[in-house]
Amino acid sequence: MKSDSQKRGTYFIQTFGCQMNERDSETIAGMLERDGYERAEERDGSDVIVVNTCSVRENADNRFFGQLGVIKKIKEKNPSSIVAVCGCMMQQKRVTDIIKDKYSWVDIIFGTMNIDEFPALLRERRELGQHEYAVADSMEHITEGLPSKRKYKFKSFVNIMNGCNNFCTYCIVPYTRGREKSRPPETIVNEIKKLSMDGVKEVTLLGQNVNSYGKADGFGSDFADLLYRIEDIDGIERIRFMTSHPKDCSDDLIKAFGELPKLCPHIHLPVQSGSSRLLKKMNRKYTKEHYLDLLEKLRDVREDIAVTTDIIVGFPGETDDDFEETMDLVRKARFDSAFTFLYSKRDGTPAAGYENQIPDTIKHERFNRLVEELNEITAEKNAAYEGRVEKVLIEGPSARGGEGVCAGRTDTFKLVNFRCSESRAGELADVKITETGTFSLYGELI
Ligand code: 5AD
Ligand code: SF4
Repeated sequence: MKSDSQKRGTYFIQTFGCQMNERDSETIAGMLERDGYERAEERDGSDVIVVNTCSVRENADNRFFGQLGVIKKIKEKNPSSIVAVCGCMMQQKRVTDIIKDKYSWVDIIFGTMNIDEFPALLRERRELGQHEYAVADSMEHITEGLPSKRKYKFKSFVNIMNGCNNFCTYCIVPYTRGREKSRPPETIVNEIKKLSMDGVKEVTLLGQNVNSYGKADGFGSDFADLLYRIEDIDGIERIRFMTSHPKDCSDDLIKAFGELPKLCPHIHLPVQSGSSRLLKKMNRKYTKEHYLDLLEKLRDVREDIAVTTDIIVGFPGETDDDFEETMDLVRKARFDSAFTFLYSKRDGTPAAGYENQIPDTIKHERFNRLVEELNEITAEKNAAYEGRVEKVLIEGPSARGGEGVCAGRTDTFKLVNFRCSESRAGELADVKITETGTFSLYGELI
């Protein structure tokens, strides 16, 4: 292993997709830095280029191959640079076959369950000059102790489990991330203790379905238990988690929202559709009524809880009535915000073979109506913050606010912009909300 002083060159990682991928990229960066590579500001000219891919939607594939076209030109200018591609798309043989055939200049391909092998693959590529390929389709255990290069000093993602056992009929994730595997609670607690000693105040626990944490591994400790243990860690001031599945949102978890002061009052609870008929076809294992009941219970224990969601429009066979059920659910649920997706056919998933695929024009029409309704509700929800004083974790300069403006999040995950010195990043400060919009709030430090 090289020490930091023996610089190997620079690296650049481009990440697509969800927080799990972002977290994996932090591990990849951590391993590269441990081995003496330095982060480059730009992809152009860097010695190692990593593309961490997503395959949740079809346009992600198209974007990836588009990016490869651009990277080819970069590599032509700097032929000794090494290009590695990884992430969910690499778990699909169709994709790796295309890369090996049409993009044979790509040096390294590795899968979602081979991240720990990347340093060795890179070394072999450099020393032997051959192309490297490592894609496993299952994982015995989660490799512990890998380094990580965090983006922020004061907040951190913590992976608590990998994979998914749910097989929602539209979703490719169970095929690209394998079966559910949880990390032992002691390992997670110890990692968070270390993070806390390192100055981390906020942790976000990550998994495809954190609510089923530990179930497949028989730890005798479930997700709610884990939250109680993390609550007790000194120095941690905020606990968040994502993503939750409504079918596994237990009464104990709901109770935890009422009992744990550090647990932020925000839950991302993807509903996908308001039609119980379609939910069945999606294999979601809950109904519209069950979902609305959950929200009521959550709001009973924590009145101020913010609820965000994911919704898919145009799932095969979605009728006007099904869509109206979604509109009705949205009005009743009053989400704080929502990610909306046009259904996208994923090869190998059951829904890709369903009849009655919805024409694009209808999908777009429904999508636009839905987004309009959601935005109106989000704006109303945000407007209720005007005049309130909120605790905000200052993250640093605002991406859009201009000079001297910082951004941060309320405990309900609302983005707030306010005038503030960036040297205060990492502080939990009181901010008075003076103005609200659909996408963010504005305020003043008090
Ligand atoms: N088409 C459209 N959206 C999808 N999602 C997952 N698979 C698909 C698909 N095939 C959405 C779901 C999920 C989010 C991460 O991506 O809403 O919650
Ligand atoms: Fe995909 Fe469903 Fe698993 Fe979420 S719970 S990752 S939507 S299969």
